[in-house]
Amino acid sequence: MAVERVFSDPLGEWKRSCYCGAPRAEAVGQELILAGWVQSRRDHGGLIFVDVRDRSGITQVVFNPEVDAAAHEKAKQLRSEDVIAVRGTLAKRPLETLNPDLATGEVELRGKELKLLNASQVPPFNIEDETEANENTRLKYRYLDLRRPQSLGHLLLRYRMTKLIRDYLDGLGFIDVETPVLTKSTPEGARDYLVPSRIYRGKFYALPQSPQLFKQILMVGGLDRYFQIVKCFRDEDLRADRQPEFTQLDMEMSFVQREDVMQVVEGMISVLFKELKGIELKCPFSRLTWNQAMSRYGSDKPDIRFGLELTDFTNALRSSQAKVFSAAIQKGGVVKGICIPKGGELSRKDLDDLTPFVATFGAKGIAWTKLTEEGWQSPLAKFLSEAERKEIETIAGAQVGDIILFSADTAKIVHDALGNLRLHLGEKLRLIPDKEYALVWVVDFPLMEFDPEEKHYVALHHPFTSPLDEDLPLLGSKPLEVRSKAYDLALNGVEIGGGSIRIHQVELQKKILGLMGIDPEEAEAKFGFFLEALGFGAPPHGGIAFGIDRMAMLLSGAKSLRDVIAFPKSQRAVCMLTDAPSAVDPKQLRELGIRTTTAD
Ligand code: AMO
Ligand code: AMP
Repeated sequence: MAVERVFSDPLGEWKRSCYCGAPRAEAVGQELILAGWVQSRRDHGGLIFVDVRDRSGITQVVFNPEVDAAAHEKAKQLRSEDVIAVRGTLAKRPLETLNPDLATGEVELRGKELKLLNASQVPPFNIEDETEANENTRLKYRYLDLRRPQSLGHLLLRYRMTKLIRDYLDGLGFIDVETPVLTKSTPEGARDYLVPSRIYRGKFYALPQSPQLFKQILMVGGLDRYFQIVKCFRDEDLRADRQPEFTQLDMEMSFVQREDVMQVVEGMISVLFKELKGIELKCPFSRLTWNQAMSRYGSDKPDIRFGLELTDFTNALRSSQAKVFSAAIQKGGVVKGICIPKGGELSRKDLDDLTPFVATFGAKGIAWTKLTEEGWQSPLAKFLSEAERKEIETIAGAQVGDIILFSADTAKIVHDALGNLRLHLGEKLRLIPDKEYALVWVVDFPLMEFDPEEKHYVALHHPFTSPLDEDLPLLGSKPLEVRSKAYDLALNGVEIGGGSIRIHQVELQKKILGLMGIDPEEAEAKFGFFLEALGFGAPPHGGIAFGIDRMAMLLSGAKSLRDVIAFPKSQRAVCMLTDAPSAVDPKQLRELGIRTTTAD
């Protein structure tokens, strides 16, 4: 037993001997002091049992009036979450009271002396893993929530993860460098959080959406290999896997190509899986081009743990009598589908319910057919020729008993709808092996897409991403066909990291900014400092950033990012503990030269 200090001070010093989770049978007979919180008190008339808890676990303490009447009397008053110290002798539990579920379950402390170090209010929920408390209550009383072993477990895993990352990168010569928090906006596609300047009224700092420009400038500065575990801030619509402030592992390397960055990353992720999960990953990880990912999974962060891949019926249905299909194709769209093997589990109602589901992704509907011994059972059957039906079955690899679902629309809508439908069905039909981990790189993203609202191209990643060399000639003529040197890493359908080889030549950088509707004056105002830096001998460089919260969530099996962040924001971007954001003193606003239009 790891006893740090056995009690030996009769003058009443209450320094604890060991953690509450430490006592074992080998130490029976020793006199110990334990300190912690009252998990529970059970009064059995004569004997009082108190479970004392700290972060390491629980030990049962027994107060017997015949051993010490005063301590027994005090123990009667104890309430949940009171903070106490107890001196006593460690004893073996009577055989019938052994508790195999508890690490300390063979022993108990026979209490001789009890000191109340601090009393607690009645907690709004019990401190146990199976809590019924709603999440906002848990976040308001986060300090109580953190006393639950599960909460501690999540933070511990996160700590071990960042420790392993630091050690691994240190071993490869990466240098941890801090970058500013009060800075200028970097375009990562979200809204900025702004901080008003008091000294320069009417001017603002932006909190970084990422340290993108600083890390590139560090490469210009000759740092060669940089990393940082750093807070990033994005004012975007919240979703289950997004927080307004989150943590990135941010990295950048000089004189590298894509393969070099990916190799460093694969080594690092392998260490994490080995040390944290005992899993040996196979390197190199699997790879899909963006085109393959979209066309087979309808997603640029595919969950490859299960099938239900998308199939393409466009060619088979080009001149079909079924107008829902042929009309979409004539407008330049596609018809794709999903074959559900043994889809018999799905009722007519289940199938009808898919229409509102895909509608949220902009799709007009979902057509379907059941393949029965008698042939197609489908509202569509009469519109499709025998040959078309056969070809669809062949393309889908469908058998009797299967169901085929169809979506016809623009490729973007079809992929989005079917990609999400695939995940929905995978879960509903329990096809996803939830104990498995599947990593996949997605590469060769389009460099940009057209934003019809803004009427110009926008970067798929960010405007500093380098185009593929072989696609450079298309930049002037077919910019949408230019692919980039970007790479994203998806784990079980969650994008855990993304990065790229960067543009390191100022002329190309200016050209790309121009294509993205940023004219030279705007470029100068927004990134003048950066463009200037590129002109002073920027080395070829590239990097990547990982979502630490997302990785901790996936590796700990937590359900939400909030579970792996000590003080997260609620689903509505509120810090429930401190009640931020909140109103400020009018004097502060006056100093900043700010007038608000809403009173609250
Ligand atoms: P990107 O924007 O892809 O890249 O961010 C990198 C990773 O950060 C995580 N992430 C988030 N996690 C929680 N909440 C959010 N709101 C959130 N937004 C992003 C994701 C994502 O993969 N500067 C580039 C990296 C580079 O090019 O090197 C960047 O920030 O896991
Ligand atoms: P309707 O002709 O609108 O009644 O649709 C007939 C069937 O086709 C319904 O099951 C719709 O869900 C489906 N459907 C309608 N539009 C599409 C589409 N664009 N792609 C796939 N199925 C569709």
